[in-house]
Amino acid sequence: MKVLSVVGARPQFVKLAPVARAFAGSGHDHVIVHTGQHYDAVMSDVFFADLQIPSPDVHLGVGSGSHGVQTGAILSAMDAVLDEHRPDWVLVYGDTNSTLAGALAAVKLHLPVAHLEAGLRSFNRRMPEEHNRVLTDHAADLLLAPTRVAVDHLAAEGLAERTVLVGDVMTDVLLTVRDGMADRVPQLPEGVDPAGAYLLATIHRAENTDDPDRLRAIVETLAGLPHPVVLLAHPRLAARAAALGLELRAGSLHPTAPLPYPEMVRAVMGSAGVVTDSGGLQKEAFLLRVPCTTLRTETEWVETVDLGWNVLRADLTGVAEAVTRPRPADTDAAPYGTGDAAERVVATLAERTQS
Ligand code: UD1
Repeated sequence: MKVLSVVGARPQFVKLAPVARAFAGSGHDHVIVHTGQHYDAVMSDVFFADLQIPSPDVHLGVGSGSHGVQTGAILSAMDAVLDEHRPDWVLVYGDTNSTLAGALAAVKLHLPVAHLEAGLRSFNRRMPEEHNRVLTDHAADLLLAPTRVAVDHLAAEGLAERTVLVGDVMTDVLLTVRDGMADRVPQLPEGVDPAGAYLLATIHRAENTDDPDRLRAIVETLAGLPHPVVLLAHPRLAARAAALGLELRAGSLHPTAPLPYPEMVRAVMGSAGVVTDSGGLQKEAFLLRVPCTTLRTETEWVETVDLGWNVLRADLTGVAEAVTRPRPADTDAAPYGTGDAAERVVATLAERTQS
């Protein structure tokens, strides 16, 4: 079997790591295509190095652009790559523009498509990711769902027959990295005591960064929190703040560049809480049993909320209260699987390969 993975953005490199590991030594061919959606070293190369992912076989180098330009550039570059490799499966990950373009390029060439992390829904049609995931699910031939809730969403859309519950590959990578980092001291910006109570924050979603009033209100809220806030500034946030003349180094805030994945995991493990609009980080906080406050109106990872480890605070008034709330009751619930999802992905693809 030959599988061609299409990745391009930071969270996809994290998901690729356990999948690439499961392919290594499996006897199957695995081709990695990097679209180039993310290209800064801290957004891309460090993930390949730290998570020991083989270098991409193909790099499309598309870079940034509006949604149409970026998606279109990937789409038009993929034809030649797919023609050359003729894989048994094109495997796409998550919900970025790289996901949708990879899926669309493959179905147009009648190549079977598998979607990893299928079935997530926010039901918020203002989010670019929501279009990407819905369209990708409906185009794909095999839907690899991370959770029961995702399976139910796919069934409600008439896609049950194409769906397999495999668990969440982010659990696989997180558990491995967590165990390797436990003895390390978190690398935090100067002025933040790694042994003290600090919060870890990330903000990058268009809905939070692209409206100047909203962004100003978020920065003001974070700056006023009662603990030091380590703000891992995504390039989109840094660019928007600079354009507005908005100072991120204010009050409790300690802005710093995005961290490599193992360092990020260690920083979350040592924190008193996470404040974020990232999907992956909500779940990582839960898996590390760190309380999370999410600055969005809804979440795809509803299990984190149902189990009490995540609260949604799109309306910023309750954030200070939320980040100082008592820890929720401990739980051994494992809605995101137990760390064997990538093995299941490879086995499911192999079982369903048409000879
Ligand atoms: C993308 C995904 C989002 C995911 C996020 C993780 C889509 C629609 N969104 O959002 O789902 O959560 O990745 O980070 O695909 N930039 C750089 N250097 C880089 C990459 C980006 O400076 O290496 C800047 C550019 O100004 C760019 C902006 O960040 O225009 C946004 O990047 P883009 O890839 O379009 O979307 P993300 O916000 O990263």
